Amino acid sequence: MNSPITTEILNLFEKNGGSMYGGEAVTQLEHALQCAEMARQNNASDELITASLLHDIGHLLHDLPDDASDNGIDDMHELLGNKYLQNHFKLAAVEPVKLHVEAKRYLCAVDNGYYETLSEPSKISLSFQGGIMNNDEVQNFEKNEFYKEAVALRKWDDLAKDPNLMSPTINTFIEAIENSLK
Ligand SMILES: [Fe+2]
Repeated sequence: MNSPITTEILNLFEKNGGSMYGGEAVTQLEHALQCAEMARQNNASDELITASLLHDIGHLLHDLPDDASDNGIDDMHELLGNKYLQNHFKLAAVEPVKLHVEAKRYLCAVDNGYYETLSEPSKISLSFQGGIMNNDEVQNFEKNEFYKEAVALRKWDDLAKDPNLMSPTINTFIEAIENSLK
């Protein structure tokens, strides 16, 4: 038997996961599964696999249009997701979700050439997510206990937009979800 929150999450993906992932060629569900699968293939912990699967759950919790970011609206999905998950999951599963947008701003500052690898929608959203981090922001970001996990998640996130990639079903990840609960 799955825990109630796991069942709720599965229902959320079933109900809203078919919407397109803002301006990309994959659905929210495909994006989540690709990201989680990359985490699994990189031997990530159950908590980081769960974070990878659920990092954009905030997008499934609001009613803004899929292309909100094209219109200059920041839906603050990472904070919505964090709020939704924090009562149920261990910090190691929640913090990378909260930080995955900051991680993009961070990588643009510390990783030469990273910006150029971003997709167009991701470059557009960067500008109203605060832009590239300055030195103080970089130092602050590195103080977070889970910043390395957030950076790893971010890199999988950026790659998990391939319409030709086959992913396992969401059931593959239920065990990781259950193991990440408080
Ligand atoms: Fe994402």
